[in-house]
Amino acid sequence: MKFFIDTANLDQIQEAKELGILDGVTTNPSLMAKEGISGQDNILKHYAKICELVSGDVSAEVISTDFEGMVKELEVLKEIAPNIVIKIPMILDGVKALSYCAERDIKTNCTLIFSPGQALIAAKAGATYISPFIGRIDDITWDGVDLVRQIAEMYAVQMFDTEILAASIRNSNHIVQAAIAGADVVTCPLAPIVGLLKHPLTDIGLAKFLADHKKANA
Ligand code: E4P
Repeated sequence: MKFFIDTANLDQIQEAKELGILDGVTTNPSLMAKEGISGQDNILKHYAKICELVSGDVSAEVISTDFEGMVKELEVLKEIAPNIVIKIPMILDGVKALSYCAERDIKTNCTLIFSPGQALIAAKAGATYISPFIGRIDDITWDGVDLVRQIAEMYAVQMFDTEILAASIRNSNHIVQAAIAGADVVTCPLAPIVGLLKHPLTDIGLAKFLADHKKANA
């Protein structure tokens, strides 16, 4: 399973990169706004900086909701770097834009996936990735991980190549459960990734090893 970081924060991206486990980056308009990035020029420059930091796929989201607008935007975004992936919302014109990209070998990430039906149509339109939002589904007391499981089963039966990119990850357990459910990629902030390596017995065990070593070498 690939690990993407879900942020537009360059320091966090650098920190994740230094762990040596980073395969890519996802952003969205909210994450760009959180970093104070606004205006077309600044947004494009910021994506370029992210693409310089990581060699893996970097999702850049279109803002338009009509096909012509999306195509205009994605034609500019795809020129930023070879690792740019165009993030397109799961709406009618978005499906047209997914097909447009598939015909031209432009990588895509279909975002805001909340049902197996949406995942089916996105794969049919040739999406490279689809992003089911686990946390937001859990927020409304449905089961986000179960959606990933259903999509994984459907894609296996139908032999789709589209990769399942589990998004809206709220905690470390979501990462583990998404991996078990068949996600090809998880994207999340740095904290849930770092949370994976924590265990109290590791800390207790290490403290004992170091204490014993100190005693023996006093
Ligand atoms: C990533 O591609 C998604 O936009 C992101 O994971 C959404 O996360 P949120 O539900 O925490 O905003």
